[in-house]
Amino acid sequence: MSLPLGRPKAGALPLGGTARSAKGAPILQRELPANFAAQVIAWQRVHGRHDLPWQVRDPYRVWLSEVMLQQTQVATVRAYFDRFIARFPDVHKLAAASVDDVLALWSGLGYYSRARNLHRAAQAIVAEHGGEFPRSSVALATLPGIGRSTAAAIAAFSFGERVAILDGNVKRVLARVLALAGDLAESHAERKLWSAATGLLPEHGIEAYTQGLMDLGATICLARAPLCLLCPVCDLCRAARAGTQDRYPVKTRRTSRGRREHIWLELRRQGRVWLVQREARGIWAGLWSLPEFDSIEALRVAAADWPGRAVELEPFTHVLTHLDWTLRPVRWTLPARTPARTLTAIETRCPRGRWFDVDEALRVGLPAPLRKRLAAEAGDAAG
Ligand code: ADE
Repeated sequence: MSLPLGRPKAGALPLGGTARSAKGAPILQRELPANFAAQVIAWQRVHGRHDLPWQVRDPYRVWLSEVMLQQTQVATVRAYFDRFIARFPDVHKLAAASVDDVLALWSGLGYYSRARNLHRAAQAIVAEHGGEFPRSSVALATLPGIGRSTAAAIAAFSFGERVAILDGNVKRVLARVLALAGDLAESHAERKLWSAATGLLPEHGIEAYTQGLMDLGATICLARAPLCLLCPVCDLCRAARAGTQDRYPVKTRRTSRGRREHIWLELRRQGRVWLVQREARGIWAGLWSLPEFDSIEALRVAAADWPGRAVELEPFTHVLTHLDWTLRPVRWTLPARTPARTLTAIETRCPRGRWFDVDEALRVGLPAPLRKRLAAEAGDAAG
């Protein structure tokens, strides 16, 4: 694929002398580069992505893809998207599904509250909108899991609404083009960027423009080492002109990575495993997982008089955005004749749980590391 070189044109920076707007002041239209949208659209039509399975005027597919793409890259989403559409081809099928079935298909994509919200939104669309998607970004943003930028993307792609998106990638593109000095962790800077994003919208061609911004952010205006020589708006980009691309976007509020450690209790009895359903919020929200204990001592206290044999297995660390979470699995095999009082104690000390055959467990929503372990076991048994 040949990509156009963005040749800086003499005097093509229509931004005047004021390189930075004052803190809190809205961006004025005359501060925005006039040709920006036209150049993004022209580039997208030739060099952008056109083969994505959700590039159709179908709000259900667009919505599903936008939610999947919120925290996950295109390459990963493709396979999940195809499986999801094969199983739930429309909003009615999704609304009628059990949340466990939805979570099972989401398993491995992460950020499971997205799947729960997707299911709730499908039910709201069927119950409150007669199965038709609301046709405006404002109405879409009232549905669970659809924020302002996602609502705008759905409305732009599905209904041609002229409305601005501002996801993480687009923030980076615009912060560089405008050399926005404000700290995006602060709401006034974010407001300024929204006003710029709106001011830059084209009169026509919102679909190509919106996709173009996404494509630029994903393939050219990279967080590290942006490919400015290939960028169609390099001539308009204040940061590129000043060679300060790496200073934008400004984000000062750094979250320090946390660490956490838990014991993961793999209770086994007669080939079955005890799984507990996780809370609707937080990591692995709503998935079926192994009961957790803060320490081996806490497990010893909880399981003081349980019969059987316990072995510690290889610990592993699950890396999340803000957290390294080490899980130390302990496999506890109960005898076939486990006393009833132990089974009752398990229900009390590991609540929201039940016994699963391994095959059955593989059909519900599981955290990816647990799915891997159980699938390996099922594979071994089958093989
Ligand atoms: N990221 C978010 N939405 C996207 C889309 N529609 N296409 C490609 N990447 C995206």
